[in-house]
Amino acid sequence: MTIERTFSIIKPDATEKNLTGAINAVIEKAGLRIVAQKRVRWTEDQAKEFYAEHKARPFYGELVEFMTSGPVVTQVLEGEDAVAKYREIMGATDPAEAKPGTIRKLFAESKGKNSVHGSDSLAAAEREIALNFNSAEIVG
Ligand code: RTP
Ligand code: MG
Repeated sequence: MTIERTFSIIKPDATEKNLTGAINAVIEKAGLRIVAQKRVRWTEDQAKEFYAEHKARPFYGELVEFMTSGPVVTQVLEGEDAVAKYREIMGATDPAEAKPGTIRKLFAESKGKNSVHGSDSLAAAEREIALNFNSAEIVG
């Protein structure tokens, strides 16, 4: 077990429904600490760069459009095995397949409007945190 940092996004469907606090409660109850957080509106270029790995996928355009459709809350989460732990409490990409008690089961609308993002590896977490936060904005 090691202390890690992961990158999280509370997506536009969830900010629209005023669910930031409810999602943060699930995160904190799971033992993850929110060590950085800001509410921002992404530009199209920011969303395209963030999701560059999905460029060739059929849902890429829709994903970029959705992620720029409203405010997002970007976060750095810290804790033991933070990358895997956050993926676990987020639940499956499609809320219909997510386990009970997970953020997506509780709050998500669909595979696209699925309330949260979490890094899928430590390398991805480092890249995503560096894209969204200066080190001075992260207070552990
Ligand atoms: P995330 O990156 O947001 O944490 O989610 P994930 O790993 O569970 O899903 P991923 O495969 O990385 O896909 C990124 C996001 O693209 C949207 N998506 N839409 N309409 C579709 O078939 C579809 N598939 C994926 C979702 O918002 C997903 O979270
Ligand atoms: Mg992903």
